[in-house]
Amino acid sequence: MNNPKKMTLAETIFSLIPADGSSIGNGRLRDQLSSMGHYVDEDTYSKIRNDMIRSRVLRIGRGRGGTVRRTVCSDAGTIQNETEVVDSSCHCLLVDSTGKGEGLSKVNLKAPADSIKANGVHYTPDHLCDFMAKLAIDRASTVSGPLSVLDPACGDGALLRAIGRIGDTLKMHTRLIGVDIDAGAIEKARECLSGFKNATIEVSLGDYLKGGYGQATIFDDRDSAGKQKKYDVIISNPPYVRTQNIGDVGPKELSSKFGLDGRVDLYHAFIVKAIDDLKDGGVMVFVTSNRFMVTNAGEQLRKAILTRLKIEEVIDFGDTKIFDAAVLPVVFVGVKVGTTVPAEVIFRRIYETRRRSTSRTVGSIYEAIESQVDQECVCIGEINYVISRGTMGILKSAAKTWYLARPSSAPIIDKIFSIEHKKVGEIFNVRVGIKTTADNVFIRDGWSGIEESKRPEDEVIYPLFTSDNAARWTPNLSRLKSILYTHLVENGRRTTIPLDKYPGAKAYLTDHREQLEGRKYVVKAKRDWFEIWVPQDPSLWSHDKIVFPDISTEPKFSFIPASPHPLLVNGDCYYIIVNKNLVEEALLMLGIINSKLSVFIYDELFNNKLYSGKRRFITQYIQEYPIPNPASLKARKVVDAVRGLINHSANGANEAEQSLNTAVYDLFNLSSSEQAVVEKAERAS
Ligand SMILES: C[S@@+](CC[C@H](N)C(=O)[O-])C[C@H]1O[C@@H](n2cnc3c(N)ncnc32)[C@H](O)[C@@H]1O
Repeated sequence: MNNPKKMTLAETIFSLIPADGSSIGNGRLRDQLSSMGHYVDEDTYSKIRNDMIRSRVLRIGRGRGGTVRRTVCSDAGTIQNETEVVDSSCHCLLVDSTGKGEGLSKVNLKAPADSIKANGVHYTPDHLCDFMAKLAIDRASTVSGPLSVLDPACGDGALLRAIGRIGDTLKMHTRLIGVDIDAGAIEKARECLSGFKNATIEVSLGDYLKGGYGQATIFDDRDSAGKQKKYDVIISNPPYVRTQNIGDVGPKELSSKFGLDGRVDLYHAFIVKAIDDLKDGGVMVFVTSNRFMVTNAGEQLRKAILTRLKIEEVIDFGDTKIFDAAVLPVVFVGVKVGTTVPAEVIFRRIYETRRRSTSRTVGSIYEAIESQVDQECVCIGEINYVISRGTMGILKSAAKTWYLARPSSAPIIDKIFSIEHKKVGEIFNVRVGIKTTADNVFIRDGWSGIEESKRPEDEVIYPLFTSDNAARWTPNLSRLKSILYTHLVENGRRTTIPLDKYPGAKAYLTDHREQLEGRKYVVKAKRDWFEIWVPQDPSLWSHDKIVFPDISTEPKFSFIPASPHPLLVNGDCYYIIVNKNLVEEALLMLGIINSKLSVFIYDELFNNKLYSGKRRFITQYIQEYPIPNPASLKARKVVDAVRGLINHSANGANEAEQSLNTAVYDLFNLSSSEQAVVEKAERAS
């Protein structure tokens, strides 16, 4: 622990945090790490920090703007006189205050993370519970008699407690009904809910999704006459678990029971069942991942919500870190009144911004979100946030994505999509790159350092485009990794390379056989032990293509011309094969998608930002981009500008990009005032 050279990153982070339990900002921690020579990107840092928080080595600290602190004695009666450290194998050790490690109890750091994955447990902080409870009670307080409030995944009862607090203040009688599969949480919920004057408590153990479906469970969603129980309010932070991680409720059973399919998450099923369990006129307030609003996987859920619930409000808390879940949270409020889609759903959104000029300082995210001014930039502590206000728009595409239609931008979006066009997805296939599932074996900076007898032959080594090479217009190929590619096409069919023909590759792969065979799914799928898991189509690599990274702050799409010894594309990037007859469409797409207007379209419609302003450019968004007729004069101007940029024949990159942006505005007939709106939004992002 004392020898810094032997410290893991987690240990190093821990050593930089004040031992007395005071808080330190995440930014400052990362600065200190880099000054010690550890450059840690934001995602890696967040992952390590979150693991340490989950395992209770660290806690979220005081002060705004993302701080952490060490867990100290006063945080947990059970860890009296103990300090927690992280050992080199990424385990959490509880040691005595002498630091000698006597009487160590060892807790695997990974265990809490796994159980989070399995049960979707991220408890809701009290401030968010109060916010959600108020939204519910504001709409439901006219109910006569005791108000029945269900939390179908109540955990330790935090949301029900918030309802109980309001009930006591308003002297309103409530029935607080909670269900959870976790017996320990239920016990705690019973304890914590016991003190309310105006509430009766009905908390029971059970599986909400199975309740009343013949399962021997304490919770039952049927009354003694066999009729489905209904509630005035259902409030919840349901578990987020992909169905592939769900244990005994099979994804198929779940899908057919709740009319969902595809890659559904457990919370989709909770929402559908909760709508079912609401009384007519009942109110639903849920906090979930904001992804269901825009992903293809959320399509059926969006449909189910809109046909059975009158959505009244959507509040997207974006990257504000209001709680420690890996997802970006959205709160939505709906009333069960029938099947009509309301004309005006209030949609509010708050995200961090790098913008410096703020209109005012506010005390909290909840105060900020009350802003009446669209695009107001406020300051909380040292962080600036931009608040967007509008109504909920529904994109007129097959997937009917929900988006925040702001008064200033919605007419522009309408205009862009009303021009005759095809969508990218109607013209091109957007493909994800290669996934080896053993990158340390297949991908290297170079192969020359390997002993000659075990060095794979040149014919099976290819240069690999990764997100590090991404740039606008043309890729940055100054440092390329390379890949041992285990596939080829024979008689028109994809097959693995004959290992006997490549003794070097065979010897190299054999050296890694244990690791490669450890990929059980490869063996289960009756594939060769030495194969790359997702090799894509080897016959396509030699074509012209457009490549781009999945994650980047701005669009970085580049054109890679055909080559006999082609560049392959890694799984952190996507690619589009450009057939000879579609070159004009491809260049037009490249121009549109790399332009300022593209960022505007992205943020208005998809807004799938990760922390620190990084956007995800995934297939389903790219497919939605509009491509007007490439033969028009205006489209040809865009294509000419793109050709200049990819051939570097344009005079000055900045000027050339400016002309390209103007040509794209012109293509979509945007007036100068509309262009100003686009540019203002771009500056604010
Ligand atoms: C995200 S936590 C929310 C807990 C609590 N409502 C809160 O807001 O703090 C999700 C909870 O769902 C519970 N859970 C998971 N699957 C469940 C199921 N099928 N039925 C009922 N509860 C479930 C977990 O045990 C966990 O307590």
